[in-house]
Amino acid sequence: MPNTPARTAVNPLRVAIIGAGIMGMSIAWRVAQAGAAVALFDRHRAGSGATHAAAGMLAAGLEGEPGEEDLHPLCDASQRLWPDFARELAAESGLELGYRDEGTLSVALSRDDATRLRHDLARLTALGCDLAWADSRELRRREPYLNPAVVGGLISPRDHQVDNRMVARALIEVLGRRGVPVHQDVPVALATAGGRAVGVRTGDRLHEADVVVLAAGAWSAEVDGVPPLARPPVRPCKGQMMALGMDPAAPLLNHVVWGPGIYLVPRRDGRLILGATVEEKGFDATLTAGGMLSLLHAAWRALPGIEELPVLESWVGFRPRARDDAPLLGPTAALDGLIHASGHHRNGILLTPATADLVARCILDGTMPELGRRYSPDRFARPAAKEAS
Ligand code: GLY
Repeated sequence: MPNTPARTAVNPLRVAIIGAGIMGMSIAWRVAQAGAAVALFDRHRAGSGATHAAAGMLAAGLEGEPGEEDLHPLCDASQRLWPDFARELAAESGLELGYRDEGTLSVALSRDDATRLRHDLARLTALGCDLAWADSRELRRREPYLNPAVVGGLISPRDHQVDNRMVARALIEVLGRRGVPVHQDVPVALATAGGRAVGVRTGDRLHEADVVVLAAGAWSAEVDGVPPLARPPVRPCKGQMMALGMDPAAPLLNHVVWGPGIYLVPRRDGRLILGATVEEKGFDATLTAGGMLSLLHAAWRALPGIEELPVLESWVGFRPRARDDAPLLGPTAALDGLIHASGHHRNGILLTPATADLVARCILDGTMPELGRRYSPDRFARPAAKEAS
């Protein structure tokens, strides 16, 4: 970090992280492991935002959308880190994370869907994704309750899943064991002085820090005290979701399945997560009939057996979305001492291990590793001339 004094074991680097979601907590875990004195600050409960709302798909393959090719190396790197990240977190916390490696299927229910999936296969294979075409028989051999009308689809063996809510619990546990303070349900503002970030304010109290990380997800642009030019251009992208209850001893699904307009994520405890709408409605947290109808209809088309399942839960989450759908990682010329870690949009859970490693290195060494440089928050900075005009 520029102008950050060298620190020692008796005088450790002080790191304050705004946002106790999966990003903030994972970064805190990594820098705490390296001996930094880190504290987290959140205006709500730790792990209660997008971390709680997500489906936990680790889908560097099938979730790669057209136009997001530049994001693939980071997604791929993070996907490769997940198994070790999960093992390490499970071992240190003593908690299960619900990591499942059956892989992901994407199914076509019409010739139109099939043509689209064949284009996806060509596009994603060219990026290096490990995907294969499967006929209807093979898909129904793997998942017998799929709609018999399925005409074919893709198998993505490396797209796994994790239970994001269990990951949050495990992170809270390891931070507690390491004595990392997590200030929750408090008003949080960035503190600045002399043109740099100097800590975090919670009401009247100033928590001084050498480095402040802004990892408040979709709320990152709203945090008090951040000077306008240092505000990340991140907006909320609403997603409505629901969970149905399968019999855990006889689940309708074992793989994650994508169908037209839907993904279905089966948990080991029998919960079947259905997601998600993609809506530009700011922080509107309303569950709508149309949102629920679209999820249920699309899920029922792919997996008709859901008809008799109980509805367990429905909720709204907010993806932190930047203009180019890619994350903002690292320092900004707009404010010394501030490091961004937000804007992960659809890929927050997937990108957690890579984000934690990259941002921790940036905090500890003062330089962003090569893999993360493309995601500098300053890629959105306007030239001074344009700013003035
Ligand atoms: N990654 C799933 C979603 O954004 O809905």
